[in-house]
Amino acid sequence: MNSDTAVQGSYWLETAPPGAPAPPPTGDLDVDVAVIGAGIAGLSTAWELVRQGRGVAVLEAGRVAAGVTGHTTAKLSALHTLVYDHLRRTRGPEGARLYARSQSEAIRHAAGIAEELGVDCDWEETAAFTYAEDSRQVARLRAEAAAAREAGLPARFVTETELPFAVAGAVRVTGQAQFHPRAYLLALTEELRQRGGAVYEGTRVVGLSEGEPCVLTTDAGVSVRAREVVVATHYPVFDRALLFTRLSPRRELVLAGPVDEALAPRDMYITPERATRSVRSAPYGDGRRLLIVTGEHFTPGTADVEERFARLAAWAGEHFPGFTVTHRWATQDNDSTDSVPLIGPLHPGSRHTYVATGFGGWGLSGGVMAGRLLADLLAGRKVAWQDLYDPRRVASVVREGTTFLKHQAQVARHFVGDRLPAATGTAPQDVPPGQGAVVRVDGRPCAVHRDDDGRLHAVSARCTHLGCLVAFNAAERAWECPCHGSRFAPDGQVLQGPAVRPLERRDL
Ligand SMILES: Cc1cc2nc3c(=O)[nH]c(=O)nc-3n(C[C@H](O)[C@H](O)[C@H](O)COP(=O)(O)OP(=O)(O)OC[C@H]3O[C@@H](n4cnc5c(N)ncnc54)[C@H](O)[C@@H]3O)c2cc1C
Ligand code: FES
Repeated sequence: MNSDTAVQGSYWLETAPPGAPAPPPTGDLDVDVAVIGAGIAGLSTAWELVRQGRGVAVLEAGRVAAGVTGHTTAKLSALHTLVYDHLRRTRGPEGARLYARSQSEAIRHAAGIAEELGVDCDWEETAAFTYAEDSRQVARLRAEAAAAREAGLPARFVTETELPFAVAGAVRVTGQAQFHPRAYLLALTEELRQRGGAVYEGTRVVGLSEGEPCVLTTDAGVSVRAREVVVATHYPVFDRALLFTRLSPRRELVLAGPVDEALAPRDMYITPERATRSVRSAPYGDGRRLLIVTGEHFTPGTADVEERFARLAAWAGEHFPGFTVTHRWATQDNDSTDSVPLIGPLHPGSRHTYVATGFGGWGLSGGVMAGRLLADLLAGRKVAWQDLYDPRRVASVVREGTTFLKHQAQVARHFVGDRLPAATGTAPQDVPPGQGAVVRVDGRPCAVHRDDDGRLHAVSARCTHLGCLVAFNAAERAWECPCHGSRFAPDGQVLQGPAVRPLERRDL
């Protein structure tokens, strides 16, 4: 199985193109609520608020639903791999129950929206499975099935699935769903606009001054005054609470291609084995379904991505004979130290600023849930699970101290290690076409990329977020920061935050 010849890009973006870009604001704005980021978290929040009669402006650096949400596997499930056994130990049985209820209600809510708006988003109700091929994992799966059931989900331990290979065991939860995430969100955006909400694309927010009102600054120098601000930028770009100390980015690869209907699983599957394997299929037509296989997670900037694509493709070929990859892409999500997303006030002193982040690979139900939760919090309504997700929580973070310390040690390694004198011996002229390397130029670390035409492009190798050194991802032609996952194009432009400023150009 070969993925080299597949189209590099998301199937969701290709099959649900948006209309003409919504232009950035041409002058300063005064709004009731400014939502930064038009992924599922930001758009769901904006949509709920507009429905409540609030005046909302969404400010999006790129295009609508083209960030992580446009590159996901798009399962809407409350079964999040093995989270319930973990939650009942760390947050108690009530915490696990609130998690299950909040995620399940979000799926039902999204189903209701899709139906009410008549959205053609390939919505399919399915079961979700967490499985293992290795029999040593069976005890964990049994514990997860029991914990998920205790949390209120219709969960069972099973040994039979429709997969074309044997599993040692699986947790099955019925009544979950899968959909086309961008088709769903483009419809939400359209409705939001019809109800008076504004969406600005190509508008990167680079500054936030909290107050009454809060004032945002965009990369074009426009000021947006807002009574309330929601930071839904995936990794928070403004972070007075230092949430980045509690979030670690995890990049994953996705392969997709049509298979005969008879070969395609109808339910949704995930295993934590082999750095995760996730499988689902989607309607395709012509007697076929689109098989989507995800996995091979790693910290951005630390892996040979081409080799990882090959490994995932080999696994897919072995497990689904006849699968030909037509699309491949990659994206990343942020894990929180206690495996629960951070949704609520941005920091302990926040009065008008909110955040939604740390979805840990499950931000579709999580994003819909965040939208409802934040809209309720902004309206002053109490929600049963607001404390569970409150970013200001400390108790469980203290309990999760080991994960916290491990992440900090990794960041410190990149931070301190990156400051040691470079001894790579690589000079700019040694960089081959299609590759990139960090080299010393006049004593400064320089990120040098040679394009296919042989031209060299040089930018500072110092990430503009907090100064770690970036590394080159040749498979995706991007500079990536291992500390908090910022990504930059070869010319230094920001592809993904938390950085908001480009890498400085350098002359060689
Ligand atoms: C490979 C993979 C598969 C996944 N599959 C699933 C799945 O099957 N089910 C599931 O529930 N979850 C899944 N997830 C997780 C899920 O996709 C994410 O948690 C979710 O999409 C995050 O949504 P978001 O709105 O927070 O982020 P995004 O969709 O990234 O939206 C954030 C937006 O903010 C914008 N932005 C950033 N900075 C700025 C700025 N300074 N100014 C203005 N705009 C800015 C970005 O351009 C972006 O559009 C998966 C994750 C990965 C990595
Ligand atoms: S993303 Fe934080 S230092 Fe680079």
